[in-house]
Amino acid sequence: MALRKIVTLPAAVLRRKAKPVTKFDQDLQTLIDDMIETMRDAPGVGLAAPQVNVPLQLAVIEYAEGEDEEEEEDPEAKPRKKKLFVIINPEIVKASEETIFGIEGCLSVPGLIGEVERHEALQVKALNRHGKLVKLKVDGWTARIFQHEIDHLNGVIFTDLATKVWTPKDDSEIPLD
Ligand code: NI
Repeated sequence: MALRKIVTLPAAVLRRKAKPVTKFDQDLQTLIDDMIETMRDAPGVGLAAPQVNVPLQLAVIEYAEGEDEEEEEDPEAKPRKKKLFVIINPEIVKASEETIFGIEGCLSVPGLIGEVERHEALQVKALNRHGKLVKLKVDGWTARIFQHEIDHLNGVIFTDLATKVWTPKDDSEIPLD
């Protein structure tokens, strides 16, 4: 496994529609493992292939629901389990009418965060790393990250959708993807 370089705007690859994955070969497995390592190293909660300069419809997402919520320190509390998703050629098959505003940032857009309205819940159809069809139901922050990553596969950046964009004053705790 190896770290890949994360490209930032105005890289053209971030603005193109990515191509569907058709070959589930060793090169793809290596790319997926590298993307997982690169996401964890950044650190980020998601990473789409165009962000490592590969124009394919592939994204990795890893997030523990509730991670962003402020809570009293509870030594008895079990650590929340992070869930890793690898989604290939994803398609949103259903999106909740309910939407929610939240603050997003992006590893490919350093120094900016923005408020974005997203569907609260989604049903997504995708292929897993072995090419098998999977259907996923996600909500909350996980659903937000899915929408952010699927946008990347279509050349869309969160600042295109944001109702406001600004530079955080200090070290922001917004998860990046
Ligand atoms: Ni991003």
